[in-house]
Amino acid sequence: MVFLGLAVLTGVFAYVASATGTGIDAVDITVSSTGGNATNGHQYGFLHEDINNSGDGGLYAELIRNRAFQSNEGFPSTLDAWYPINDAKLSLKNLSTPLSNALTASMNVAAGEKDGEIGFYNDGYWGMDVKASNKYTGSFWVRGAYSGQFTASLRSNITGEAFGTAKIQSQSCSDDWIEHEFELTPSKDAPNSNNTFALTFDVAGTDDGALDFNLISLFPPTYKGRKNGMRIDIAEALEQIHPTLFRIPGGNMLEGWTNTSWWDWKNTLGPLKDRPGFYGVWEYPQTNGLGLVEYLEFAEDLGMEIVLGVYSGLALNGDITPEDQLQYFIDDALDQIEFVRGPSDSKWGSVRAQLGHPEPWKLEYVEVGNEDWLAGAPEGWDTYKQYRFPMFLDAINKAYPDIQVISSGSTYNGYDIPSPGAGDYHLYAVPDTLVEEFNRFDNITTPHIIGEMAAIQPNGGGGWDLPQMPFPWWGGAVAESVSLIGYERNQDRIIGAAFAPIIRNMNRWQWEITMIQFTADSVTRSTSWYVWELMAAHIMTETLPATSQFNPLYYVAGRNENTDGYIFKAAVYNSTEGADVPVRLTFEGIKPGTTGELTILVGPEDPYGFNDPFTGVNVVKTIKKTIEADEEGGFQFALPNLSVAVLDTGLSAPLQRNRAVEWRG
Ligand code: AHR
Repeated sequence: MVFLGLAVLTGVFAYVASATGTGIDAVDITVSSTGGNATNGHQYGFLHEDINNSGDGGLYAELIRNRAFQSNEGFPSTLDAWYPINDAKLSLKNLSTPLSNALTASMNVAAGEKDGEIGFYNDGYWGMDVKASNKYTGSFWVRGAYSGQFTASLRSNITGEAFGTAKIQSQSCSDDWIEHEFELTPSKDAPNSNNTFALTFDVAGTDDGALDFNLISLFPPTYKGRKNGMRIDIAEALEQIHPTLFRIPGGNMLEGWTNTSWWDWKNTLGPLKDRPGFYGVWEYPQTNGLGLVEYLEFAEDLGMEIVLGVYSGLALNGDITPEDQLQYFIDDALDQIEFVRGPSDSKWGSVRAQLGHPEPWKLEYVEVGNEDWLAGAPEGWDTYKQYRFPMFLDAINKAYPDIQVISSGSTYNGYDIPSPGAGDYHLYAVPDTLVEEFNRFDNITTPHIIGEMAAIQPNGGGGWDLPQMPFPWWGGAVAESVSLIGYERNQDRIIGAAFAPIIRNMNRWQWEITMIQFTADSVTRSTSWYVWELMAAHIMTETLPATSQFNPLYYVAGRNENTDGYIFKAAVYNSTEGADVPVRLTFEGIKPGTTGELTILVGPEDPYGFNDPFTGVNVVKTIKKTIEADEEGGFQFALPNLSVAVLDTGLSAPLQRNRAVEWRG
């Protein structure tokens, strides 16, 4: 197929059936008021894992890179990101008394040839955003006798200018690690993000001209003020897509490279000094700072349901845990579930309570592994079906009958998923394939989550050996909406759909297509962001049967019992000659004069157009209009080719709600 040009926008709201001159007959849709299916009410969300520096250096707000000189199977400790000030000599030490069992390496800072203030600076994750309106919260641990003050500052990496400084009185001593905390409020904004954090001390105040440092940390204000929390601008861009499903902690990251390097949730709990860091799988080390509790708090703050991935005994290198050793991981998963939702007097619930969360979190979805059909195939997938998934399913549902256990593969991976399990279907595809998805789940009775999806390549360019598009693009976003509409039509069995992966640091990435791109001081909402935002802003609690054919108009209709509103979501993908598609939409029982808010998203003339993080250009246009049902109770409008639209009658004035009550009466 080829993308066709966008039809002229004039007349978007003018419905004159085929008399529009488009040559396309009106699509006449009647939506029944009965006979639909209840939905689970949470249909949209995302997968987060630390890929693309989306955790460390991304959503996780820590500004200091390599803050604790952590090491793991793949990455030994280094002094990356640390630089000396005033001739200081920086060296890595593994002291006989480390800061903790988890953080065994530290940085020794010794005087060189020069006296006076010596120290070090850190250039962060490709810079640091410095704002006078922000109060930065910092801490560091020191070992070694020093009487005097430390000076912490945020500085330009270009001119050395300090934008803000804090003096911290030393409490340090020769034979113990002492934590120092401080706050730093810059007196002016930095002109750009090429900034550093510096810490200095006066050599004259030390016993022997050197001090040891570890876990040097600096946070800007965080989302909802959470300690060890999330970066505000990224969190807000995520909040604004109204997510209700949050799949954590990945993806491939959950699996790890080997059967000893999976994402071990226990390593992510408690004080930062007790978190060893993690190999990850995305070519950079991870701090474990963004841990299970941080994920759960973020889910709570955004009102998201968790889909918790538990390690299933298969690693990315194909290592498979034999049946007689699997119990270890099943017990680990049960511990993890107990940590999240067990009573505060249970073994792991009490650990949660000690960490400040006596109340259990809600957890209804647990996914066993990630893409077990892929690594180590075919044995990996065979063992998953033979014993791994059945053993997890049985154990989890014995302990927690209400939990929906999800297999990491779908019916389409050739798995007749044992009841009461659900499946996970992943779809990274070209637009035409996403559109062909529309009917995929119409006849599947096993519940599924769409745990990862995105348009990643242009039509004709599919395949993992071929590059992804540089950014989400308009035609791809429209195609995603067609899949999403298809999933919503089956919302009694489709748990929800998650965009993946969700964010990308523009300074280092492994995966181009993400819904949001960011740098140290910018956030870009992609074309997909706009489409998913619109779709998720109008949640149906019930889908309703409707009469008509699909293609090029794809749609779903339903109702939201909380707003008393009728909802219609639609996308037009490749109409004949790119013409507008006239629509006449009647909800059974609706009264003439009822108003609905129609929102239409249209893209640029070039369907490959994208929202460019470098120029800030947004190619998505949002058109809103209140329309009224005609004398027969029908809404009439036309939708341009390659557009996405929602009509919602539940958003208007109280009068509208009264009308809704009347219809029912
Ligand atoms: O979303 C990026 C990766 O794609 C995930 O980690 C993995 O599950 C999938 O293959």
